[in-house]
Amino acid sequence: MSIKVGVIGAGGMLQYHAAGFRQAGAEIVAVADPAPGAAAKAAEKWGIPNIYESVDTMLAGCKELDAVSIIVPNKFHAPLSLQCLKAGKHVFCEKPPALKASEVEEMIAASSSAGKMLMFNFNNRARPDARAMKAYVDDGTVGTINSAQAKWIRRTGIPGFGGWFTNKELSGGGPVIDLLHMIDLALHFMGYPEPAHVLANTFDTFITDKNFKGPWGIPDRADGINNVEAAAHGFVTFKTGQVLSLQVSWAELIKREEVSVVFQGTGAGGKVERLFAQDGIDATAIDTCELYVQENGNSVNRTIVTLPCEDMGRIGSAANFIESLEGKAEPLNTPVQALRLMQIIDALFESASSGKPVSIRPSINNF
Ligand SMILES: NC(=O)c1ccc[n+]([C@@H]2O[C@H](COP(=O)([O-])OP(=O)(O)OC[C@H]3O[C@@H](n4cnc5c(N)ncnc54)[C@H](O)[C@@H]3O)[C@@H](O)[C@H]2O)c1
Repeated sequence: MSIKVGVIGAGGMLQYHAAGFRQAGAEIVAVADPAPGAAAKAAEKWGIPNIYESVDTMLAGCKELDAVSIIVPNKFHAPLSLQCLKAGKHVFCEKPPALKASEVEEMIAASSSAGKMLMFNFNNRARPDARAMKAYVDDGTVGTINSAQAKWIRRTGIPGFGGWFTNKELSGGGPVIDLLHMIDLALHFMGYPEPAHVLANTFDTFITDKNFKGPWGIPDRADGINNVEAAAHGFVTFKTGQVLSLQVSWAELIKREEVSVVFQGTGAGGKVERLFAQDGIDATAIDTCELYVQENGNSVNRTIVTLPCEDMGRIGSAANFIESLEGKAEPLNTPVQALRLMQIIDALFESASSGKPVSIRPSINNF
């Protein structure tokens, strides 16, 4: 019997979740969205039989659901995940996992007590080049990654002015939250070590400047709020002795958009990089996947050839959730990894506001 999924939120990201769930053989049986007409429009486009105006009515009215997919503004990730886990549904939740680490702790506890799976959409792990690189980490070629650099920088990438993306209360932050993928990918390659300290700063230069609007995002709202950072730079140390530097931006005077993880391992260095001819337009991107080794007295650069992936692994990531539920694949991420990522993000914002290095507080539940 196929897994029956209810999707929560009928905005821009639904297309990838729907395609991924279908690719893995799941049935999308319900869609919930309170915006007038949004659920009906998505239902028509994706052939979804049941539409609801809220998660409450969906959970009450559609008893056949096995799993839900949460694709709504970030503020609602934790409360809706908790509600659905408590109702006995498996949860696939968009990134960021929540607004802060303490919410992820609650989500992990709810997932354990319900005995239901909790996964997040760290879709860049599903890109062919990221999967290829991870294979070289797993087979020991890379060795221990001593240091890594994670970057997602956009020159003109503010995703609309005054909508939920730029409203700190609704989004939790700007590019630190929105473009957290390369930090996650670096940690994925590094073995998701326990973070120890973070020193960082954020900058809001250009956050209200229309010259820095990106081609991707949601409609502008003149009466809306723009109170998130436009860029952040930081340094993370780990209990293992590994280190990570990071740079993320929606608006920063750089040459062009760059999405990359570079690392220095004890066996090999490496780089997974997506460069854009035009900011935010995936069709203009060129991906590189390389390993750097010393062989027979030579410096050797290996190029790993992988298929281009315009959807940035989004379809494969949604498919992995279904395949993991069915025991056909290993889950691409775990809730404890999501917690470590949010601990780093909490500490990054704390360091930026205090101007001091921040020590990561241990998980209250020893996760
Ligand atoms: N993984 C990625 O590559 C990626 C890319 C973009 C966005 N995202 C994430 O996806 C999520 C949604 O982003 P989007 O671009 O689709 O946003 P969007 O604004 O296009 O759509 C969000 C939808 O959620 C609906 N909604 C709001 N509150 C709701 C609730 N309580 N119950 C049901 N529906 C509700 C809204 O009416 C809207 O239709 C965000 O968390 C964002 O961070 C991920």
